[in-house]
Amino acid sequence: MCGIVGYIGKASAVPVLVEGLKKLEYRGYDSAGLAVLENSHVEIIKTKGKMKVLEEKINGSLNGCRIGIGHTRWATHGRPSDINSHPHKDCSGTIAVVHNGIIENYQSLKEWLQEIGHRFVSETDTEVLPHLIEEFYNKTNDLLKAIKMTIAKIEGSYAVVVLSRDYPGEIFAARKDSPLIVGLGDGENFFASDIPAILNHTRRIYILDDGDIARISETEVDVYDSNGNKKVKEETYVEWDAEAAEKGGYDHFMLKEIHEQPEAVRKTLSGRIDAFTGKVNLKEISLTKEYLEGIRNIAIVACGTASYAGLVGKYAIEKLTRIPVMWDIASEFRYRDPLVDEKTLMIVISQSGETADTLAALREAKKKGSRVLAITNVVGSSISREADEVLYTLAGPEIAVASTKAYVTQLIAMYLLAYDIACKLGKITEGEVVQGVYALTKLSEQIKEVLKCEASIKEWAQEISRWEDVYFLGRGIDYNVAQEGQLKLKEISYIHAEALAAGEMKHGTIALIEEGTPVVALATQDFLFDKMLSNIQEVQARGARVTALTFEGNTEMEKSAERVIYIPKTLPITAPVLSVVPLQLLAYYAAVARGSDVDMPRNLAKSVTVE
Ligand code: M6R
Repeated sequence: MCGIVGYIGKASAVPVLVEGLKKLEYRGYDSAGLAVLENSHVEIIKTKGKMKVLEEKINGSLNGCRIGIGHTRWATHGRPSDINSHPHKDCSGTIAVVHNGIIENYQSLKEWLQEIGHRFVSETDTEVLPHLIEEFYNKTNDLLKAIKMTIAKIEGSYAVVVLSRDYPGEIFAARKDSPLIVGLGDGENFFASDIPAILNHTRRIYILDDGDIARISETEVDVYDSNGNKKVKEETYVEWDAEAAEKGGYDHFMLKEIHEQPEAVRKTLSGRIDAFTGKVNLKEISLTKEYLEGIRNIAIVACGTASYAGLVGKYAIEKLTRIPVMWDIASEFRYRDPLVDEKTLMIVISQSGETADTLAALREAKKKGSRVLAITNVVGSSISREADEVLYTLAGPEIAVASTKAYVTQLIAMYLLAYDIACKLGKITEGEVVQGVYALTKLSEQIKEVLKCEASIKEWAQEISRWEDVYFLGRGIDYNVAQEGQLKLKEISYIHAEALAAGEMKHGTIALIEEGTPVVALATQDFLFDKMLSNIQEVQARGARVTALTFEGNTEMEKSAERVIYIPKTLPITAPVLSVVPLQLLAYYAAVARGSDVDMPRNLAKSVTVE
C-alpha cells in the first residue's frame, strides 16, 4: 500500500526521503517518487518500479535541498506508470502533492477543474488535489486556507502532504481515514504514513486524527482541527526498536517472523494470566459479567488471514461460552444489512489496524449500536482508536506481507477472550479453565519444537514447488487452519491452492485429483480422526500424494498418508497455533524454491487501506 515521507531540516532531504521510503517498501508498491524545493522551484523525480529505479534516476542529484516529500504508490486509479506515480503537481508546477487513499468524487471534480482550465496529465484520482489547491490558493493567497477548502470538496480517504514553492520553509498535511504521523526532531521535522519511515531519526511523534491539518517547519509543528482551531497534541514516544523491523540475519522477514512466534505468543499471554488463580485476567478490557449476560450474539469480522483467525475464534467462543457467533469477511459485512445491534458484541481483528473494510465494518456495527472490541497489533492505529475496547496482540512489527506471527497471536487473543467470557459466565468449570490456560502457556515452547521440523519441511516444499495445484483438507478447526495454509501458499509462491472441509471434497472438487496431486491433510481433532482417515483414503485412491499433519503418537496415520508431520500434543482447541507453523514453512520454502519475492509478493500490499 502507498507510503509517505516528508522532511524539513538541516540535512539533505533526498537521502532522508529515500531511506524513509525504503523502510516502507514492505507495504507493497509499484512506483515511487519525490519532490524537493531547489532554487525556488519544485523538482520532481518519479518512476514506475522499485526504489532502486528511483535511486538510479536521482543519481546523486538534488543534494543541496533541505525540504521534500516522497511517496511509494500502490496503484488504485490508473496503472503503474511514471506519469501516474506521485508526487503530482498543479498547472503552474509550484505545488506538489503526495496522497494515500482514494478520492471517491474525483471524476466530477476533475471535470469541473478541466472546465475552468486546469490541465491534467495522469489517470489518477490524486491529481485533482494539486489542482484544487492551486485553484483555491489563487483565490486566497493562503496555502493553509486552500488546503482546508480542498479538503472540504473531496470525499473519500486521504493522507495528503503538500509542498509549495511559495512556502519554502514549510510542509503541510491533512488526513482522513488513512494514517499519518508527525515526527518531532531537533531542528527538523517529518511527516510519515508509518513509524518505521522515521524511526532512525526520532521516536517522538504526534498521531494525526481524522480531520487534522498540520504544518511543519524546521522548528515548529502546528496542528489544526477540521474547524481550523489549533490543537494541543499529545506526544507519543515509540518504544519499539528500529532493529525490530530489520531482518536480523534471516534471508527474509517472513522467515524471521515465523521464528519470532514463540516470543510473540509468550508476550501476548504475559500479564494476562493471574498467577494465583490460574485464570485469564484481561485488565485492559471491561467486559463485565452483567454486560456479557445481556448480549445476544457475537460478530467476528476481519479480512484475509485475520478472518481465518476469526474462524478459529468463532469455534472457541461457541464451544466454551455457547454464545452464538456470526463470522463475516469485512468487505461483505456492511453490504448485507447484518443482524447486529446493541445486544451484539462485535469483534474486529486486524494486524495493521488500518484495513479499510474492517474499519468500515467497525463503523457500521457502531452505527447499529454494537460495542466493538478490536484485536490489533498496532497501537494508535485507526481501528484501535475507534473501537470501544482493544486487546492488543503483542507480535511486534510484522513486515512481511504474508502474515504469520500476527495470525498466531490473534489466535491467542481469541482463546484468552473465549476463556475469559466462559469463565465470567460460569460456562466452564474451574478445572477446564486451568487446563485451558495451562495449554496456552505451553504453546510458546511447543512452537519451538515444531520449528525443529524446518529442514524436512524444506525438502517437502521442493516437491510441492513443482506443482501448480495443491489441496488442503481438514475438519472442524483443522479446516480453518487449512484455509490459512492455502492462503499462505498462494500468496507467496503463486501456486494455486484450495482448502476444503474434508467431507465436502467428494461433492465436486475430488474430480480434480489425479495421479500425484499433492494434498495436505490436517488431523489434530481426535474425535474427527477416523473421519479424516477415510477422507485421506478417498483422495489417495484417486492418485493423490497425501502429507498429513497430526499429534505425536497418532502413528496410525502412517498407514494412510505418504508423509506424516507430527506436532506436540495440546488441547484440540489450541492445536491451530501449532499446526499452522509447518504450513507457514511450507509456503515460505515453496516460494523460495520458485524464486518469488517472498516478503513483497506481486500485486499484494501489507496494509490494504482502500476498499
Ligand atoms: O492488517 P490486517 O490484519 O487487517 O490485514 C488483513 C489481510 O489483508 C491480511 O491478513 C492478508 O490476508 C495477508 N496478506 C495474509 O498473509
